[in-house]
This record gives sequence, structure tokens and C-alpha cells, in this order.
Amino acid sequence: MIVGMIWIVNEKTKEPTYQKEIKLTIGEKVPTNITYQLDQKTNTQTLKWEKLELEKEKIYHAGTYQGIFKVNKKTYKVKLIVIDNIEPTIENVKNIEIYENEEIDLLKEIKVTDNSHDKITIEIKGEYDVHKAGKYTLTYEAKDKSGNKKTESFNLIVKENSKNQGNQNKTSKGYSIEVKNGIYYIGNILIANKTYTLPSNYAPGLLPELTTAFEQLKQKAAEDGIELKIISGFRSYSTQNRLYNNYVARDGKKEADTYSARPGHSEHQTGLAIDVNSLLFSFGETKEGKWLQNNAYKYGFIIRYPKGKENITGYQYEPWHLRYVGDLAPQLYNGGNWITLEEYLGITSEYSN
Ligand code: DAL
Ligand code: ZN
Repeated sequence: MIVGMIWIVNEKTKEPTYQKEIKLTIGEKVPTNITYQLDQKTNTQTLKWEKLELEKEKIYHAGTYQGIFKVNKKTYKVKLIVIDNIEPTIENVKNIEIYENEEIDLLKEIKVTDNSHDKITIEIKGEYDVHKAGKYTLTYEAKDKSGNKKTESFNLIVKENSKNQGNQNKTSKGYSIEVKNGIYYIGNILIANKTYTLPSNYAPGLLPELTTAFEQLKQKAAEDGIELKIISGFRSYSTQNRLYNNYVARDGKKEADTYSARPGHSEHQTGLAIDVNSLLFSFGETKEGKWLQNNAYKYGFIIRYPKGKENITGYQYEPWHLRYVGDLAPQLYNGGNWITLEEYLGITSEYSN
């Protein structure tokens, strides 16, 4: 009886001895076998890891994992700790110069790499305002899953728009140039063309003064047997961005620039412009097109991009594109010989690049 009990206790203490915790650093090979001692003998067993994502037998994800192996039908656990103490690297850090109101993606050129293949977060620390000229010192901060951090500083220089500099706050025709919340008003007319931009977050929708005027125009046209409808009204910065990029992909940038505004430059983003009926040049020759040409000004609208003024407006002839200017319209109509906003105000419509 006593002999039997001793035998049982002895059997229970017969556990293998082995390394219960394995520490590796990122990029090291993960063992697939474990050696253990039992009965003063050294043996090897296959180790099975749980939830381990390996690349060519190596581990690139920091964390704690568990492995198991079996000896005499009993399961034993092994802990694996994968350590990462190397911070990510940030490449292509440069000082950036833009003009006021210019759109900028501060992360566009930045490349972040890390020894781990975990997700790396990158943030921009510091405050800046692209609508306000100045020098802003900012910091990129890249962080890996283990909390290793790398920072790199750079300067964002927001330059005053040249048309705004010094005492050049008047146009060649003497109209004052005012900027309110990043929007240009020249002689009290809101201006968006190739020279003058709109803030990307400016999204007023179609403005009521336009829709009211268009309803009146449409009704009078109907009385004359002319049917008019808006086919494109307000377009947000991102919609224009998508449109413009599609045109660039189709026709190339040079060509696209003759008929489509770059994002932040379209009158459709002002809420004061509409396209009517058709986007064909021949629309100008239809009875609807002719009616607009001769009557739109009575309701405060102008044909914004007239024929023969391509070099002044920066755009090809668009008989369908109406811009609401209110009381100024009859003067610009000029008896059918349109004066463009650029000519009237004494401004350019040119991209800086
Ligand atoms: N088609 C005009 C120029 C625009 O894209 O706003
Ligand atoms: Zn248009």
C-alpha cells in the first residue's frame, strides 16, 4: 500500500523541464521545435504556435503569443514575446511652401517605414492655417504598435498671394480686391477663375438669389416657347476634383484646362453658376441658346465664357454656362457684345503653374 503511493507521487513530478518563455525581436526566426529534459534525457518536440503570422518563418508583428507542445499526451505551454524597440523612419521630410488658400496634402510625399509590419500611424502635430500667410513649424510623428515614436519637424510656409501683396490690393481697373474667409471679392463681385481660388470647404449650395432669378427667367422663356432647365448647378470642391481628374485622365492636363476648372477654381463651387440644357457648342445656335444670349442679362445672368474671349476668361466658349451677377449683367451684356468679368474688373484668369 505505502509502496504504491510513493509510485504515484513520483509519476506526478515527472514533468518536462523546458524554456517557458521565449523572447524574440522583430524579424527573427520563430522556432518550430522545443527541446526539453525528462528523465535526464534531452528530447525535441514540435511547437505549435497560435495566431502567429509568419513571413518566411520570421515574425514581424510585435506582441505576446502562445505555443503548445505535447509530451506523453499532455499539453505544455510556451510564451513567445516579440519585442520591437526600434522606431519607424520618416522619409522625404521637406519644408513646404504654398500660397494662401492653396490646397495641400502634407502627407503626400511622406514615406514611413518600420522594422515591424504592424500598422504605423502618422500624425501632424502643431497648428497651421492655409488661409493665413505665415511660417508654421510642424512635426510629423510616426508611431508603431509598440509605442516607438519618431518625430521629424518641418516648416510650412504660407505665402501671401501676390495679387494681395503690398499696395496691389487694387485691380488694373482700380477695383478693390478683398479676401473674406479665403474668398475673393473684387469690386464686390465674388470671383473664382484660374487666378482666384475658393477655399476647399466653401460649399454654399446654389444660392437663393440665383434660383429665384432663374425661376423668373425660365418662366419668361416658357412664355416665349423656350424650355430651359439646369443640368449642372452647385458643385463641391471634391466633385470638381473628381470631374477635373477624369478629364485630365481622358484628354491630358493641357486640354482639360481649356474646358474644366481645377478644384477650387470652378464657378460652380460659388453657388452662383449653372449650366443650362446642353453641353454642346451647337447649343449656342439653337433657339434656346439664342434666347439666353439675348435675354439672360435681364434676370442678372451673363454668358460667362463668351466666344472669342477664350484668352481672357481662360476657357473655351460655353453658351450654356450662366453666372449670376445681378445688376451688373446689363452692363456686361453690352448690346450683345459681352464684356467678360476679367475685362470689366481688370483681372487675369491664369494658373500660377
Ligand atoms: N466648365 C467650367 C469652366 C468649370 O469647370 O467650372
Ligand atoms: Zn458650367
